[in-house]
Amino acid sequence: MAFDLSTRLAERRAADLYRQRPLLQSPQGPQVVVDGQPLLAFCNNDYLGLANHPDVIAAWRAGAERWGVGGGASHLVIGHSGPHHDLELALAELTGRPRALLFSTGYMANIGAVTALVGQGDTVLQDRLNHASLLDAGLLSGARFNRYLHNDAASLANRLEKATGNTLVVTDGVFSMDGDIADLPALARVARAKGAWLMVDDAHGFGPLGANGAGIVEHYGLGIDDVPVLVGTLGKAFGTAGAFVAGSEDLIEALVQFARPYIYTTSQPPALACATLKSLELLRREQWRREHLASLIRQFRHGAEQIGLRLVDSFTPIQPILIGDAGRAVRLSQMLRERGLMVTAIRPPTVPAGSARLRVTLSAAHSEAQVQLLLNALADCYPLLEPNNA
Ligand SMILES: Cc1ncc(COP(=O)(O)O)c(C=O)c1O
Repeated sequence: MAFDLSTRLAERRAADLYRQRPLLQSPQGPQVVVDGQPLLAFCNNDYLGLANHPDVIAAWRAGAERWGVGGGASHLVIGHSGPHHDLELALAELTGRPRALLFSTGYMANIGAVTALVGQGDTVLQDRLNHASLLDAGLLSGARFNRYLHNDAASLANRLEKATGNTLVVTDGVFSMDGDIADLPALARVARAKGAWLMVDDAHGFGPLGANGAGIVEHYGLGIDDVPVLVGTLGKAFGTAGAFVAGSEDLIEALVQFARPYIYTTSQPPALACATLKSLELLRREQWRREHLASLIRQFRHGAEQIGLRLVDSFTPIQPILIGDAGRAVRLSQMLRERGLMVTAIRPPTVPAGSARLRVTLSAAHSEAQVQLLLNALADCYPLLEPNNA
């Protein structure tokens, strides 16, 4: 029978891969209520603790009073309002690029940028651990699509030998499920030598990385010639929603003309842009958030190493605990939950088979005492997991 969904769902359940949506009954933050249970959470991407910041909320409220609620139309019709424009100017300034273009989500920014830049006869090369939105964008573009070994410039160079047409090399800045960062200087060197463009999706780098929080390109000190296409998202460290592409005048004009997820959608609510402008101001003004976060990351890594947990070589707020088998990862997550902690298990197909993990994320909103509670709970629960038979 066609559309035998119940069999597909049963198979997913049997493989420990069934997904469920926890119901959040509180604002985002370290202390949440999920499905009626108060929990200490270590799994959102609110790295700087801005998602529930009173000044950001006030900016949103004032924005709604001044601009109303809905965007009302697409940007090219009559939906491009003052706050969108101001936010684009601020994002261009933050990234040191001539211009920035606001998208409604990171998923759309990635699909829009890749499909506007390459098509049939061209080539798109991606890190094999790139975010799903980038991989989907590559497939959708119609360009020849190949993946290179994770963070491996030699493997990229090898793939570039066979590239045809305009060639776009695409990488996460901070890898979303691993927390390690791309070796951008090496990737940029290899790409430039072949006349390819490098596109970096720094969804998880903006905020935590760089002297001013301007992400991985600031961390490495790379300019627009190294990274001509720079993507950032606003729903993570900035605490709001949306995304942007930053780059040259021509790049942004080309996206306005050809990026379908930009053209054929209603603009984000202008009040949201007002809220994000406030987040940017807090990023600049409250340097302590980034410093506190960095110190929590060191505390967590030190404690986790003492317990003997398998970590990834990451200095970012994403600190996965590698488990392997999906069932074991889910059981560890459940044991933590019984102790009042929430850390989500990440399983295939989000990560490669046999590499299920608990994706711990840290935020400037956490305290040292809360990180210690997590470490204590992990020290109790981890030894109770049965041996890995994956
Ligand atoms: C690396 C990366 N890129 C893009 C996205 C998508 O961004 P958005 O949530 O704004 O659609 C995400 C996660 O959501 C991500 O982790």
